[in-house]
Amino acid sequence: MSTNSPRSVVIFDTTLRDGEQSPGCSMNLEEKLEVAQALVDLGVDVIEAGFPIASTGDFEAVRAIANSVRGATICGLARCNEKDIDRAWEALKGAPESRIHVFLATSAIHREFKLRMGKEEIIERAVAGVKRAKAYCDNIEFSPEDAARTEIDFLCQVVEAAIDAGATTVNIPDTVGYATPTHYGSVIRMLRERVPNIDRAVISVHCHNDLGLAVANSLAAVENGARQVECTINGIGERAGNCALEEVVMAMRTRADYYATTTRINTTRLVPTSRLLSNITGMHVQRNKAIVGRNAFAHESGIHQDGMLKEPTTYEIMRPEDVGLTKTDLVLGKHSGRAALADRARALGYHITGEQLQEVFDEFKKLADKKKEIYDADVAALIEKRMSIGEDAWKLVSYEVHAVGGGEPSVMVTLARNGDKVSRSTTGGDGPLDALFRTIEEITAIAVIVRDFRVLSVTRGKDAQGESTIEVEHNGRVYRGRGVSTDTVEAATLAFLNAVNRAAAGGGQPVVGPRPDMV
Ligand code: KIV
Ligand code: ZN
Repeated sequence: MSTNSPRSVVIFDTTLRDGEQSPGCSMNLEEKLEVAQALVDLGVDVIEAGFPIASTGDFEAVRAIANSVRGATICGLARCNEKDIDRAWEALKGAPESRIHVFLATSAIHREFKLRMGKEEIIERAVAGVKRAKAYCDNIEFSPEDAARTEIDFLCQVVEAAIDAGATTVNIPDTVGYATPTHYGSVIRMLRERVPNIDRAVISVHCHNDLGLAVANSLAAVENGARQVECTINGIGERAGNCALEEVVMAMRTRADYYATTTRINTTRLVPTSRLLSNITGMHVQRNKAIVGRNAFAHESGIHQDGMLKEPTTYEIMRPEDVGLTKTDLVLGKHSGRAALADRARALGYHITGEQLQEVFDEFKKLADKKKEIYDADVAALIEKRMSIGEDAWKLVSYEVHAVGGGEPSVMVTLARNGDKVSRSTTGGDGPLDALFRTIEEITAIAVIVRDFRVLSVTRGKDAQGESTIEVEHNGRVYRGRGVSTDTVEAATLAFLNAVNRAAAGGGQPVVGPRPDMV
């Protein structure tokens, strides 16, 4: 057990950079701004907003976040070269508090096969990168990529040189999720013991989850003196993901007796932020996921329920309300007004005002006519539906389906864009949905391959809204779409159109591996 007085741990969120670069998690500018604001409300210290050199979209997103989001340090990633660093600063310079994060791989495998550089050159490049970034901004983070597989003596040398060059945070990434807790904890301890200038920088950790150990490794690092944890909402990220923010924060909080650490996180925002992200990306959280999964606080066993009724702490180590789960989420009905809707939206983590609020309210009233009870998930779905419609996107005006028995379906679809309506009809195909999708492809002139398609119920009851998620491929890139309606055909049509609009905007993730229907 730790005997120190509480140490504060910096929470560095990389949902918008490492998280967003994982397949199926790409977000548009508006969505990134929404997530960045939610991260500020959650209380993260640093938001890694993107990798500005990677694409124009990334650059614009980092710039927009730096120019408008207040309440956290905004960080941009760069390799150790002049172009990357200059571009990162160009994007970041509007932020009152900014950080440039430079990285260079240091492990033997990366030196030999990827970079073809010797140890001396690596140190020179790292130092030059940190110095160039330092000329722009005081707050510099340096990451020796694949640190967990780097020889410890060399890692100590690189870290010392980066701190001498001006790095204020040294991040130790387990890039490929290879570390185990005892090993990783000892790496952090050795850095503290052997690097003479280590006290001039914050030690940070960045763990990937390939062996399911990202949270355990991060905690082992904290135990051994790390003062910053890099993590993502819902643990999204490359391959098996990154350290999950909600898990590492709640572990430190629940076991404060052991870790003796504090963070600035407002834990009651954990569930709303998790929901916001999964709604935006269409990437669902598994039911039994720690902290934010639907079953995380559900007690099924009779013995457990009995214990819970007598004394909740018999089977609950955290209170649901501490992570933002309300006891009952039955909130609104047909008599609820705009103020009540705005209030509920705020509690769920959305910032909607003015015209957007009015549009959501109009949809809410329509839904309240069809559905007696409006749950939190329904409200979130209505808001997301509005958010995912960009200014120049195609909108669904109406559709008709005629299909008798097993006969050929015939459909008619009307879409509108910038006020212009276009209608088309199609007969035949592999059922009504296939015909609807093909008609949308024809109107928008965007051809896609459907990779995955699901329909789930948003809430409970016979009148529940159906939520459809779809993943499509277009020009070698993957796009997700989401649609919600009390009518499942409409939900599927909206999801398909949402994915097609995203494909039209470009910037999806490259296709990785074979299509699901080919495996
Ligand atoms: O996993 C990794 O090594 C990274 C670095 C850029 C920090 O994401
Ligand atoms: Zn990473």
